[in-house]
Amino acid sequence: MNLNMSAPTHIPVLLEEAVRALAVQPGGRYIDCTLGGGGHAAAILERSSPGGQLLGIDADPEAIEAASARLQNYASSTLLINENFVNLQAICLKYDFQPVHGILFDLGLSSRQLNKDSRGFSFQHDGPLDMRLSPRQEVTAADIINRSSETELAHIIRTYGEEAYSRQIARRIVRERPIKTTLKLAQTIEQAIGGRKDRIHPATRTFQALRIAVNHELENLEAVLKQAINLLGSEGRLVVISYHSLEDRIVKQLMQKEARDCICPPGIPTCVCGHTACLRLVNKKVITPSPQEVELNPRSRSAKLRATERIAFRDEYCETAEKLCFAIQDRANGWRRPVLLETLRTTFWAS
Ligand SMILES: C[S@@+](CC[C@H](N)C(=O)[O-])C[C@H]1O[C@@H](n2cnc3c(N)ncnc32)[C@H](O)[C@@H]1O
Repeated sequence: MNLNMSAPTHIPVLLEEAVRALAVQPGGRYIDCTLGGGGHAAAILERSSPGGQLLGIDADPEAIEAASARLQNYASSTLLINENFVNLQAICLKYDFQPVHGILFDLGLSSRQLNKDSRGFSFQHDGPLDMRLSPRQEVTAADIINRSSETELAHIIRTYGEEAYSRQIARRIVRERPIKTTLKLAQTIEQAIGGRKDRIHPATRTFQALRIAVNHELENLEAVLKQAINLLGSEGRLVVISYHSLEDRIVKQLMQKEARDCICPPGIPTCVCGHTACLRLVNKKVITPSPQEVELNPRSRSAKLRATERIAFRDEYCETAEKLCFAIQDRANGWRRPVLLETLRTTFWAS
């Protein structure tokens, strides 16, 4: 495969913070769901040796190729899979890789992908309007731009780009079609909204929206986070670095929900939801890059890291054991409760 070796390598974002939040330990078993160039993966492997294991996943075959070159010294401890992370649970089942000590998501794109003209992710380079993470995907950005109705386009640009000028942009796109290249699309957007309205380039939000739509980014994120929680072993860590508010909202809401015992709407006098917390928030406040990191790597500026820990199974099991004992006590007038409780405790604690 022809890798663009001239592209600057990707600088891992919040590297030290991510490894610390994962609480990486020797002999641990970890999953990097967004392998990219393998920057975070290399740090995880280094800190988890001796005996550590890493499952690395990326939808982009070029990322897998770059990461396997970088991680070749750890080849016997790594399993690299070219797949969409939305299939995480199935992948772990297939390779018998669960439960795990930590799972990392470093969402979005790598510099390598952004800088390669032929991938069509950037309005600063001329290229085909592609934007697919994997060549196995069928729908490209050009398909969406040239085949959607004006209303559909406006909806995509508003919903996934949070763009205030979505209707004007959609109207202009429909008038200028066919649009096949990134620069033609960027010019069309500039014409639609009349140049820069704020600090960012006028095409920024529309390009973000298209990328999200082409790769079903938000739906996939929502689905995979739930799978990830189920794959964590007792006290396993889930760490997510996101780069825009739509992603961060999904991560924050799910983590906060799963860290609460009751999720009944406010105003309900007694709990009716039966929900129990399965996570503990590791950092109450979101972690962002230092000014030094942003200066060194401007692409890190929008990064937000959130981390949670799977609540210790011992507590969950013991609670269940106690409930069971109380149920049995009711039926058997309590005569064997202490013995049963002790048996259940030792069984669950040992597992
Ligand atoms: C920001 S880069 C990760 C960089 C990496 N942490 C490093 O240090 O080199 C994000 C990577 O996630 C991959 N990715 C994004 N969404 C994905 C998905 N749904 N399934 C699999 N990989 C995905 C992209 O292809 C890209 O390589």
